[in-house]
Amino acid sequence: MNTVTSSPAEDPVAPEVRDIGYGRMFADFYDRLFPPDGLPERTAAALARWQAGGRALELGVGTGRIAVPLARLTGEVVGVDSSPEMLELLRAAVEAAGVPVTAVHGDIRGYADGTGYGLVYSVCGTISLVLDPVEQRGVVARAARHLAPGGSLVVETHNPGAVHALHEGASRTSFFVPYPKPGTGLQTYSTLLPEQNLWHTSHLWHEDGRVRVGSEITRLTTPEDIDAHAADAGLVLVSRQGDWAGGPFLPEHSPVHISRYVRAADREERV
Ligand SMILES: C[S@@+](CC[C@H](N)C(=O)[O-])C[C@H]1O[C@@H](n2cnc3c(N)ncnc32)[C@H](O)[C@@H]1O
Repeated sequence: MNTVTSSPAEDPVAPEVRDIGYGRMFADFYDRLFPPDGLPERTAAALARWQAGGRALELGVGTGRIAVPLARLTGEVVGVDSSPEMLELLRAAVEAAGVPVTAVHGDIRGYADGTGYGLVYSVCGTISLVLDPVEQRGVVARAARHLAPGGSLVVETHNPGAVHALHEGASRTSFFVPYPKPGTGLQTYSTLLPEQNLWHTSHLWHEDGRVRVGSEITRLTTPEDIDAHAADAGLVLVSRQGDWAGGPFLPEHSPVHISRYVRAADREERV
């Protein structure tokens, strides 16, 4: 693992990187899935407001969709990802933008660099790609240990309530989202696996007569799941919203939940 710094006390042996293969399927068209609608800039602006100085750490940085605009606002971002394919695109984006983002090949289930950050964040459902709830809890615990005094942990993932509403009681559904550019669109086949609390999706990206396919399995992760992991890590909820414009979280409608936590001790100091 290529970490920025290491802490022998916390991590005597660098843990292996168990890449789930997300980048092998999605890297080729990942950035095409996000139309240039200002969402990354809005997301970065919200995160920047919550950053208590210092550097930021992104868990599951991908191609730098958020890390690059955030680095423009607040300076250095360290971005961890298990996918060499996504990191290759991140490095190219960082070079093109000339921003201070450090790409780290690592597994968020074992990542530790022994330093503190004014902001640790994991967005766009990355936490739900960790399927084992015990490992999810471990990710949040490690994230909490990386918070500098006054720092915030921010977690965004899909809202199970909205996923269930989309399925209208059926275990399988499919939908097509046309994109602004003629000849482009995203076709999705969605399957709920209730016994394991998992959600399987296969995405077909159509562009100029070509189709590319990416599949993923995520854990349906409620806001309460993240709250429980955070509480175990000594964190308390500061705010929850349903979009990056600050709209309220609506349990059956919001496509995502976005939660911000600080250390309980930091919260008490402010009260
Ligand atoms: C949905 S993408 C989100 C990327 C980026 N955060 C964004 O907002 O565009 C999820 C990313 O998490 C990474 N990932 C999934 N599991 C991981 C793990 N255990 N450790 C590190 N990265 C992981 C994937 O490789 C992928 O790049």
